[in-house]
Amino acid sequence: MNRNIFYELFLKPFFFRLNPENAHELSKGLLEFGSKIPLFFKTLQSLTEYKSSRLLTKVAGIQFPNPLGMAAGFDKTGELYPFLSRMGFGHIEVGTVTGEEQPGNPKPRLFRYPEKEAIVNRMGFNNPGSEKMAATIAKQKKYAIRGINAGKTKLVDLENAPADYAKSFRLLANFGDYGVINISSPNTPGLRSLQGRKEFKNLFESIKNELGGTFPFPVFVKFAPDLSEEELLENLEECLIQKVDGVILTNTTLDKSSLEMENPEEGGLSGKPLREKANHFTKIAYQYLRGRIPIIGVGGIDSGAAALERIRSGASLVQIYTGYIFRGPFLPYEINKTIDDYLIQNGKSKLSEIVGEAVPTVK
Ligand SMILES: Cc1cc2nc3c(=O)[nH]c(=O)nc-3n(C[C@H](O)[C@H](O)[C@H](O)COP(=O)(O)O)c2cc1C
Repeated sequence: MNRNIFYELFLKPFFFRLNPENAHELSKGLLEFGSKIPLFFKTLQSLTEYKSSRLLTKVAGIQFPNPLGMAAGFDKTGELYPFLSRMGFGHIEVGTVTGEEQPGNPKPRLFRYPEKEAIVNRMGFNNPGSEKMAATIAKQKKYAIRGINAGKTKLVDLENAPADYAKSFRLLANFGDYGVINISSPNTPGLRSLQGRKEFKNLFESIKNELGGTFPFPVFVKFAPDLSEEELLENLEECLIQKVDGVILTNTTLDKSSLEMENPEEGGLSGKPLREKANHFTKIAYQYLRGRIPIIGVGGIDSGAAALERIRSGASLVQIYTGYIFRGPFLPYEINKTIDDYLIQNGKSKLSEIVGEAVPTVK
């Protein structure tokens, strides 16, 4: 039986009747409750996990059990990591965490567009701050790979941003396998301006200085899909110079024309309408980088086929958020199995053999 039917028929209609933020809080509560019933949780785990040695992949020196991760923003506090990491994901990116605790924007700030399979959010980095997150994570057992996605506290001005990022990395260094410098969320005023080549160089070098000259773990940078191709390539060139360990493409977009509405909600758009753009960014980045820096592909992935397309377009790892809301908890199984089936059918023994295979070589 298609394991998604249970979600489509029962859970989704129920969750989608609730306001999106309440639905998120409720599913969080259910996961925590469910994990206390070992038989229930083991069953869920066995239905969502898919294991294969072909899916093992080394990126930035880290051994990932499979290429699929939960994108940043789903587990903003770090509390969901123990559950998500046993539900088919090979890595969980927690955060965005900021140096200081902050409430985020006033509610409502999260909106579904079911007919477009899209979400608009203007959450504004609501999070407990790096100190409290460290206390939460310190109590947890380690399962999957954990990424620490850091952003800038809203009240900290851009000039002091490096110290704010550095604070989060310093406090969370012992608990993360990699760190992310998030300079692409649209809901913190000024944050995206840190993507300019000069600004990014300055930010990166200053965070490193704050940390005593070296990052405590491999560090990835997350970019927006609203950069021009030229701006993207300039940033990538700087990433090469700075020896960044990975780039995450992409965050949400401010282009909401795909919603075909007069007055869409303010905020960043994610989900299906972002897929083509994010895939295109992955392709042009891969064409330029050719494996010198790995790409983590995110944006509109909602099926095994879409994940496979992103990998063949150059992503070494993929992440999902909105697809998980629309397709449910069995999506990780579908994604990992589809990729593995493709590897078997094409006589490949490891994932890295198909990364970027759909991107033509420029002579
Ligand atoms: C409600 C919501 C909150 C998000 N919060 C963050 C965040 O805090 N930090 C971040 O880097 N990305 C955040 N994102 C962006 C996602 O990580 C991802 O880059 C984007 O949604 C595109 O992927 P998707 O189409 O699979 O959702 C958020 C996305 C959503 C929908």
